[in-house]
Amino acid sequence: MTSFEAAVSAEDLTKRYGTGDAQVTALDAVTVAFGRGELTAIMGPSGSGKSTLMHCLAGLDTPTSGRVWLHGARHGSADRVELSGLRDDALTALRRDRMGFVFQAFNLLPTLTAWENITLPLDLAGRKPDLGFADTVVDAVGLRDRLHHRPSQLSGGQQQRVACARALVSRPDVVFADEPTGALDSRAGAEVLGFLRRSVDELGQTVVMVTHDPVAAGYADRVLFLADGAIVDELRDPSADRVLDRVRGLESAARGRAGVGAGA
Ligand SMILES: Nc1ncnc2c1ncn2[C@@H]1O[C@H](COP(=O)(O)OP(=O)(O)O)[C@@H](O)[C@H]1O
Ligand SMILES: [Mg+2]
Repeated sequence: MTSFEAAVSAEDLTKRYGTGDAQVTALDAVTVAFGRGELTAIMGPSGSGKSTLMHCLAGLDTPTSGRVWLHGARHGSADRVELSGLRDDALTALRRDRMGFVFQAFNLLPTLTAWENITLPLDLAGRKPDLGFADTVVDAVGLRDRLHHRPSQLSGGQQQRVACARALVSRPDVVFADEPTGALDSRAGAEVLGFLRRSVDELGQTVVMVTHDPVAAGYADRVLFLADGAIVDELRDPSADRVLDRVRGLESAARGRAGVGAGA
C-alpha cells in the first residue's frame, strides 16, 4: 500500500447561503484531504453540497469559515498555499498555474481551435507549451486529427476531451472535474473517464471529480459520499456496484431520518 500524501486539503469548511429563515448550510464543517496521484470521486444526491465543496476547494467560491490548502508537488513550505490568505489576483494566478478544470458544459472558447483551447491556460500564464508533453496529452485524448477544428465542429465527447487536455497540459497540482460526463452519452462518457483514469495512472495526475453517477465513481481510487453538506461515508477501490449499494443504503437512511416510508 502506498502512503497517502494530500494534494488538497480542507479543515472545518463551512458554507452558508442566505440569512435568517432562508439560510442554507451547503457545507457543514467538512474536514477532508485528497490524495496526490489519486482520482477521488465526490458523490451525493442533488443539493448535498458537491459543487459547493469543489468550488471552495478550487477558490472559485469563498467559504463562510474554514480553510483550504493546496499542497505543492515539492512539499516545501513555500509550495503549500492556504487559499483564504490570498488576494483575488493571487488566487486567479494560483488557479491558472496550479489547477485544471473540467466542467459539465465543456466551457471551451467557440472562436478558438481545439489546439488553441488546449494551450490557452499556458498562453494566459505567459508560458510556452512543453510541446512534447502537449503532444502526449493530445495523443492520449485521441484528438490528433481534430486540432484545427472549432468546438462547434466537434462532438460533445470530443469537446470534453479537449477540455480534459486543456486541464492537463499545464501539469497542474490538481484537476477539478464537476460532473464531467453529465452532458455525454455513456460511450463518450467512458472515453472521458478512461482518459482521466489514465492521467492518474500514467502521468501521476491528481483528480477530484464530482459526480452523481455510480459508473463514473467506479473509475475512482476513492469515493467520498456527501449528504446535507457533510461527508458521511467513503469507499476505497470502488466498483460501480459497490458504489450503487452504498448510495442506496444512504438514500434509505435519509428516508428513515426524514420519516418517509421506505416502501419495500
Ligand atoms: N448561490 C447559492 N445561493 C443559495 N443557495 C445555494 C447556492 N448555491 C448552492 N446553494 C444551495 O446549497 C446546497 C448545496 O448545493 P450544491 O453544492 O450545488 O449541491 P450539489 O452540487 O450536490 O447538487 C443546496 O441546498 C443549494 O440549493
Ligand atoms: Mg452540483
